[in-house]
Amino acid sequence: MISIKSAREIEIMRRGGKITSKTLTTLMAAAKPGVTTGQLNQLADESIRSMGGVPTFIGYHGYPAAICASVNDEVVHGMPGDRVLQDGDLLSIDIGTTFEGYVSDSAVTVAIGNVDEAAKRLMRVTQECLMLGIEQMQVGNHLGDIGHAVQRHAEAHGYGVVRALVGHGVGRKMHEDPQVPNYGNPGQGTLLRKGLVLAIEPMITEGTWEVATLEDGWTVVTEDGKLAAHFEHTIAITDQGPKILTLRDVAEHPDVARYRPSEEVAA
Ligand code: MF3
Ligand code: CO
Repeated sequence: MISIKSAREIEIMRRGGKITSKTLTTLMAAAKPGVTTGQLNQLADESIRSMGGVPTFIGYHGYPAAICASVNDEVVHGMPGDRVLQDGDLLSIDIGTTFEGYVSDSAVTVAIGNVDEAAKRLMRVTQECLMLGIEQMQVGNHLGDIGHAVQRHAEAHGYGVVRALVGHGVGRKMHEDPQVPNYGNPGQGTLLRKGLVLAIEPMITEGTWEVATLEDGWTVVTEDGKLAAHFEHTIAITDQGPKILTLRDVAEHPDVARYRPSEEVAA
């Protein structure tokens, strides 16, 4: 069942989304060579709680941490711990906050120290995929328009689109209907309505889109061991278009400057 949020609910989710985005900004600055993923998790837990939120992921199907920290070929759901981040690593940080009963969910992939051009390109294109998907969140569009926009951009650059995991509705629960695949056909699927809030989260790979889960039961990795990137926002559909509830401070982070398809360059 798809739930439609009132303006009042969206305002609560925007306030919660600020906790998520501010915490993510803090983690992005702290993610440096020599830091462990466990330390980032500790920082996230403290940051979320200091602003009156609760880390959504803790206890979710038994998940023990406030963030997912997925390195290099790990796509999503990497568990934070003793792993020391190395210069050249690609780190995906996924975080969720519950605030006044509503969830916001967001993720970024960041470079640890200096990464090569191939990694930079994968990060850039994945973030562009997210923005192109968000741009389709217009009243009267269909769910397939979102997935199509993401898939088209990723595949135009020769990348893979992970199929096994999808975006989702978000609200009182982290995972609500509908599922939001990062692939699809224009004009197909659920009609997009005002008040629908979605977490769009392209998971894009350098090589094959096939993934596997490690023995820990959580960590999802690429089958071919190549890199993956993951960006996610929580977004509400309004009469004025999509409203990103987890937008980070653009002044601090020019990487979130809005991507426009007209700026698209050949692969
Ligand atoms: N945030 C993830 C998502 O986008 C889910 C995290 S799984 C958890 O759907 F176990 F860590 F909570
Ligand atoms: Co999500």
